[in-house]
Amino acid sequence: MPEPSPQASPVDLAHLPRHVAVIMDGNGRWAKARGLPRLAGHRAGTKSLRRLIESCIEIGIPYLTIYAFSTENWKRPVHEVRGLMFLLEEVIQRQLDELDANGVRIRHVGWLDQVPKHLQHAIASAIQRTAANRRLTLSVAFNYGARAEIVRAVRDIVLAQTPASEIDEACIERHLQTAGLPDPDLVIRTSGEMRLSNFLLWQAAYAEFYCTETLWPDFDRADLVAALRSYAVRERRFGVLPPAEGGGSAGRPADPSLRDASYG
Ligand code: FPP
Repeated sequence: MPEPSPQASPVDLAHLPRHVAVIMDGNGRWAKARGLPRLAGHRAGTKSLRRLIESCIEIGIPYLTIYAFSTENWKRPVHEVRGLMFLLEEVIQRQLDELDANGVRIRHVGWLDQVPKHLQHAIASAIQRTAANRRLTLSVAFNYGARAEIVRAVRDIVLAQTPASEIDEACIERHLQTAGLPDPDLVIRTSGEMRLSNFLLWQAAYAEFYCTETLWPDFDRADLVAALRSYAVRERRFGVLPPAEGGGSAGRPADPSLRDASYG
């Protein structure tokens, strides 16, 4: 795996997102267009995922979160659900050595109680084995839904008998599945769809959104670079006016109450 290289990366390295989150969509359409079963699309999607991880390492993006299986995906046909479980386990088995050698730390976002025991163990051992790695934190959202995440966070806060005066944004963030991760700066969705679909609703409050017509199995380094270039030229305001128009700091205001003062 090459070191991050400015020469090899035609992106604005001064304005790279620290955290990229990806809604990998379009596997079914990719397969249908080829007369293949939907699972063939998901399998092809694992190859794009591998390319994405390699590109993030090479370009120097330290946090990547992928939406691999939503709480709503249980409603899909049982063989597709089983196939997605199988694919995740296969990815872990086949790619864990390489991911570990390349400094990838694996995290899981979501709930594992409903997934098969052998997959639970595979995920837990991948997390444990890569815990000390810091080059890229890969968070796999698997059996994840943002509304359920917020509901559980609120329940935990109530169960801990937290005084109302201590419930603020930081308190809620500590109870989310993503505790300890920076918020995503850029959310990418493939296949022309323009929805968050219950993905990181809290965390993506100020994320830039990039949508491409490319179906997930076709998503490659050039697509990622296009998303990063689009991100690099955007002005992130976090609800505050630019200094030339009388606004304050260009960064995210330290005082959380300011973040709600206007929309941006
Ligand atoms: C959405 O495409 C994609 C998913 C529900 C699963 C994403 C999975 C992968 C990219 C493969 C890697 C898998 C794991 C588990 C690591 P869709 O099926 O909704 O596509 P469609 O909208 O064209 O039907």
